Amino acid sequence: EKGGWSSFMAKEISEEPEAVAKTLLGRAVDGAVHLDDLDPIRERLLTVNRIIIIACGTAAYAGILGKYAIEQWSRLPVEVELAHEFRYRDPVLDDHTLVVSISQSGETMDTLMAVKYAREQGAQVLSICNTQGATIPRESDAVIYTHAGPEVAVASTKAFVAQGTALFLLGLHLATLRGTLSSEAIADLVDDLKAIPEKIERVLETGDRIKTLAGWMADTRSVLFLGRHVGYPIALEGALKLKELAYIHAEGFAAGELKHGPIALIEPGQIVFVIVPSPRDPRSLHPKVVSNIQEIRARGARVIAIAEEGDAAVLPFADEVLHIPLASPLFEPLLAVVPLHIFGMELAAAKGLDVDQPRNLAKSVTVE
Ligand code: F6R
Repeated sequence: EKGGWSSFMAKEISEEPEAVAKTLLGRAVDGAVHLDDLDPIRERLLTVNRIIIIACGTAAYAGILGKYAIEQWSRLPVEVELAHEFRYRDPVLDDHTLVVSISQSGETMDTLMAVKYAREQGAQVLSICNTQGATIPRESDAVIYTHAGPEVAVASTKAFVAQGTALFLLGLHLATLRGTLSSEAIADLVDDLKAIPEKIERVLETGDRIKTLAGWMADTRSVLFLGRHVGYPIALEGALKLKELAYIHAEGFAAGELKHGPIALIEPGQIVFVIVPSPRDPRSLHPKVVSNIQEIRARGARVIAIAEEGDAAVLPFADEVLHIPLASPLFEPLLAVVPLHIFGMELAAAKGLDVDQPRNLAKSVTVE
């Protein structure tokens, strides 16, 4: 079943390009987005004035990515909330609220309870799910299925890139509906999204280098991850993978938060991964993150930067630079996450751990 791979996780990471491509299939055609999946809520979508994304773990990090894209393109306000917090805090919902749940398995009890609650309160529920006919899609008003294929390894990898892709499609659909992006802008984004699978293939080719890095770090006790804007959920995802797979204390931060406390953790030898925003990003976050790298290097930390190809500014300061191909800045996280998935897996393997079945975890969490 593993088809010659050392683990299901290795196989599933190798399927990340396909997970994106299959999720786009038939939905991104001729420079436009076609989401027939939304037919059951087509009328109601026109009156939506707010979106709340609910999910747990890795799916919630995909949700943050979706928030940034959907808000930028459609100008609808989007919140992301952990499903288990949402359900129990008496959230304000009405029939103009669209709740978007994200779940690979479609069976996560925390997310299911939140979906049921949202519908009881009169919200529309759209679910993004990887498992046909699972409980969450059955309890929802509409479903966008991700087509990542079955995910067996406990740690979610290919489902994450597929969830990001589905959220990008939703954002482009809403922008089309609301007229907040020109059709030329949408066509450019659709073309760029369709080029992502081939770019992920190129990132996968750097796997051996990441394996070597992970091999050197098998004794590491703590790893920090910094990212900004759409790099922020990628930092959270990188940290979660190290915790669950390699049992290493890891934390992801928004890079801007560094000076508000976490910089006190930086000491000689501390390993810090930094997801560097594109130098082409219109928000000019690139120089800010490069100066974060200088600050942590000055305190003796070891920096591993994930940066766009041709980004020369990070080279003098980082100990290692892992390059990713150029893409629209909002889509780059689908590339930047790949080395972190490989890193988590390889570090666990270097420690002799079971990559597919980490201790204390189950593939789907069917209890609250
Ligand atoms: C992390 C991981 C978990 C799941 C979370 C939600 O690698 O796998 O954090 O993402 O339990 O699971 P689903 O998507 O099935 O609802």
